Amino acid sequence: MSQPESAPTPRPLRGRRVTLGVSGSISAYKSVEAARRLEDAGAIVDVALTPSAARFIPPLTYRSLVQGEVAADLWDPSAPAEQHVAMGRRADAMLVAPASATTIAKLAQGIGDNPVTLTALATDAPLVVAPAMDSVMYGQPSVQANLELLKARGAFIAGPAVGRLASGGSGLGRLIEPIELAAAVRSAIGRTVGELRGRHIIVTAGGTREPIDPVRFVGNHSSGKMGIAVAEASRDQGAAVTLVTTQPPPQGLYGIVVRPVGTALEMQEAIRNAARGADALVMAAAVADYRPAEAAESKLKKQDAEAAGMTIELVENPDVIASIDAPHLLKVGFAAETDDLIANAQAKIEKKGLAFIVANDVSQSDAGFQVDTNRVVLLDESGEPERLPLLHKYDVGVAILERLKSHHGWPASSE
Ligand code: PMT
Repeated sequence: MSQPESAPTPRPLRGRRVTLGVSGSISAYKSVEAARRLEDAGAIVDVALTPSAARFIPPLTYRSLVQGEVAADLWDPSAPAEQHVAMGRRADAMLVAPASATTIAKLAQGIGDNPVTLTALATDAPLVVAPAMDSVMYGQPSVQANLELLKARGAFIAGPAVGRLASGGSGLGRLIEPIELAAAVRSAIGRTVGELRGRHIIVTAGGTREPIDPVRFVGNHSSGKMGIAVAEASRDQGAAVTLVTTQPPPQGLYGIVVRPVGTALEMQEAIRNAARGADALVMAAAVADYRPAEAAESKLKKQDAEAAGMTIELVENPDVIASIDAPHLLKVGFAAETDDLIANAQAKIEKKGLAFIVANDVSQSDAGFQVDTNRVVLLDESGEPERLPLLHKYDVGVAILERLKSHHGWPASSE
């Protein structure tokens, strides 16, 4: 029996080395999960611990988990000499999570007295600082001034979040979640060396919902996964990303500006508002071609529907992507087809004014709506199809961005 085809797991941090610096906080347990997520994303992780961090989580825990080295004691005779310097030099990014008030102060003032602060001094790589502390501590002018100082020097401050705190109660000061910590590292590397830094990309996701009444709508099966994957791939390459979506953003979506919308008309408006100065629009959303002519103000009763002859009058929605007219904006459409994939998709390129189109056969169970994978054909007006194998939607996003960057209309880099 033939095995179903599978797509490789995306590795956005393949070839990258990340140093994770952990300082003393009850939330240090989240750094363990963050290390795993960074390695799952393809990075090799080195870990540096402050003496208090090592009391919360023993170095052995990280040693069993990461491929890189663990530095916990400056005076350990068995550790490689100048380990912090080597770890700092080879890092593509350093993430300090959790960053306590004391560690933030040391980072801001250039004090190097433990494996975390010394490694931070020894690196030129982007520094991501994820504060975690009690909300009153976080609000102290001294802590805020130190964070401002780090920000002004180019550090990325990730969080904190509002939530339950170890000191009791709830407030601002909670370490962001491991999935967000890993995304913050991806974003920081993108913003520092990514090929799309300085660019602005608008991505749409999800199916529009055209109201019939307050509880019902005309919709479709789009989950938003395809658009969200394109948005994440764009963010990882350093672009500023506006995601116009009908779906609530998934947990951990980090470094992306989200504009929630419902209908096609709202989507059109949100894109128009974001389009000034944008470089590209990638329209992965499934937009309803028609909407109910009128949305009832209160819930329609069965007898109302029967009285109306069981008919909903529809009017045409604008073709959103065709209607957006902004200088320098390259437009990428998707075509969801069940028959004649290439011919139907090709016809939409000129009609909608697209740089190229991403055609997907949505009749396949491992492609199109709701699944994590897609099998697409990239088409431009030349008519030469580029057929991609079954890929995770993130890697479809990467392929779309490659095509975009090589398009003759893509502005040359100003660097
Ligand atoms: O969200 P997922 O569950 O991950 O599913 C992904 C997807 C199947 C929705 C996605 O891969 C996809 O194919 N999106 C486009 C679906 C679609 O509406 O195709 P279309 O062939 O009807 O439209 C062609 C293009 O015109 C699309 O870019 C669409 O966004 C755009 N359009 C369509 C109608 C309209 N009134 N305005 C538009 O802008």
